[in-house]
Amino acid sequence: MRINERAANIKASSTLALTAKAKELRAAGADILSFTAGEPDFDTPKHIRDAAKSALDEGFTKYTPSSGTAELREAICAKLKKDNGLSYEPAQIVVSNGAKHSLFNAFYTILDDGDEVVTPAPYWVSYAEIITMCGGAPVPVYTNEADGFKADAGLIERAITAKTKAIIINSPSNPAGVVYNRGELAEIAEIAKKYDLAIISDEVYEKLIFDDGLEHVSAASLNDDALNRSIIINGVSKSYSMTGWRIGYAAAPRDVAAAMGNLQSHATSNPNSIAQKAAFAALVGDGAPVEDMRLAFKSRRDVIMKAIDETPGISAVCPQGAFYVFVNVEKLVGGDIDGMKINDAADVAAALLSRENVVVVPGADFGYANYIRLSFAISEEEIGKGMDRIKNFISECYSF
Ligand SMILES: Cc1ncc(COP(=O)(O)O)c(C=O)c1O
Repeated sequence: MRINERAANIKASSTLALTAKAKELRAAGADILSFTAGEPDFDTPKHIRDAAKSALDEGFTKYTPSSGTAELREAICAKLKKDNGLSYEPAQIVVSNGAKHSLFNAFYTILDDGDEVVTPAPYWVSYAEIITMCGGAPVPVYTNEADGFKADAGLIERAITAKTKAIIINSPSNPAGVVYNRGELAEIAEIAKKYDLAIISDEVYEKLIFDDGLEHVSAASLNDDALNRSIIINGVSKSYSMTGWRIGYAAAPRDVAAAMGNLQSHATSNPNSIAQKAAFAALVGDGAPVEDMRLAFKSRRDVIMKAIDETPGISAVCPQGAFYVFVNVEKLVGGDIDGMKINDAADVAAALLSRENVVVVPGADFGYANYIRLSFAISEEEIGKGMDRIKNFISECYSF
C-alpha cells in the first residue's frame, strides 16, 4: 500500500528509538549505560497510584467529556492560579493524552498550510515533526553555547516573515535546560504582540528548576495581551513521574480551546478516565514527592556537570532546569576510530556505544550536529559509571 507523502516524511522519534535500543541491548545481556532517558526514574507517588486503583474499583471506566473531566479541569485552573498567577476557566482547558498530544492539538488548530513557527534551537525533537504534520514549517533560531543557548527577542525577530504564525517558548528547555526570566520573556512577548503571533509555551519541566533565585515564569502571566495570544502546554508526566499515564493539558483562549476540544472529540474521544483521576490526585495532593524529585535531579545535575567539567575535549552549559545536559563534542569530531570515520556527533555516539556500551542521543535532531544530549534521569551511581566510560573513551581515542 502506498503511504502518503505526509506520513512518509515523518521521522521516528530518535530519542524514543535510542531508549528502546538501549533496553534491547541490555535485555540481550550487554552491560549498557544509557543516558537517553526522557522520563524520571522514580515511581509515580503512592497517593496517585492509589487514586487510580480507587477509580478502577469505583467503576470510573467509561468515556469522560472529551476535553477532560470537570474536576480535573477545575484542578488545573486552580494550579494555574496558584503556581502561575493565571486566571483560566475550565472551558479554556483541554486535557489530552500527554503534553505531546496537547502540542499536536494546538498546532493542528492554529496552523494553516505553510505557516511558520519560530522555534528556538536547540529544540525538542518532536516540535519540528509535529509542526510539519500539521502543515506548518518549523523555523529554527540557532542560539550559541556562549549565550547559554538563549534565544533573545532580537534573534527571534530576525526569523519572522509574513508567514510566521507562532513562537515556541520552552522553559525550562529540553535539551539544554534553559530557563527564561521574566524580562527575557517580556521582550519575546512584545515581539509576539508587534507581529500578532501566537505563543506556544511548553512548560512541562516547570517544577524542575534547580538554582536559588530562579523561578518559573509563564509567558501568559506577563500581561493580558500575552495571555490572549498564549497556549500553555503542561502535564503531569515529568513533574509527577507519570510519563506512562499519558496526561497533558493545554490552557488557551476560549475559542482555541473549543476548537482543540472538537478536534480531540473525533480523534481520541477523551483521555483515559483512570489516568485523569490519577492526574487529579497529583495536582491536588501532597507536593512533597515533587520537591524530593527536584532535589534528587539537582544533585545529579551537579554530579554530571562536575564530571563533564573534568573531562577533556567536551564542554556544556550548566542546565538550570529539566534533566538533560547538551554537551559540545565538536573536538571529538574528525579523524577515525577503529577504522570508522567520525564526521559528527552521531559517529561519536556510535563509537561510544561500540567501545564503551554507553548510549547517548546525538544532537542533530535537536538542531546541532556536533552535540550530544545526556539525560541525568538515572542514579548518581550510573552517572558516575557512565561518565567514567566516556572519560576512558576520550583518553583512549584522543590526545588532549
Ligand atoms: C519539551 C517537552 N515537551 C513535551 C514533552 C511531552 O510530554 P508528555 O510525556 O506529557 O507527552 C516532552 C517529553 O519529552 C518534552 O521534553
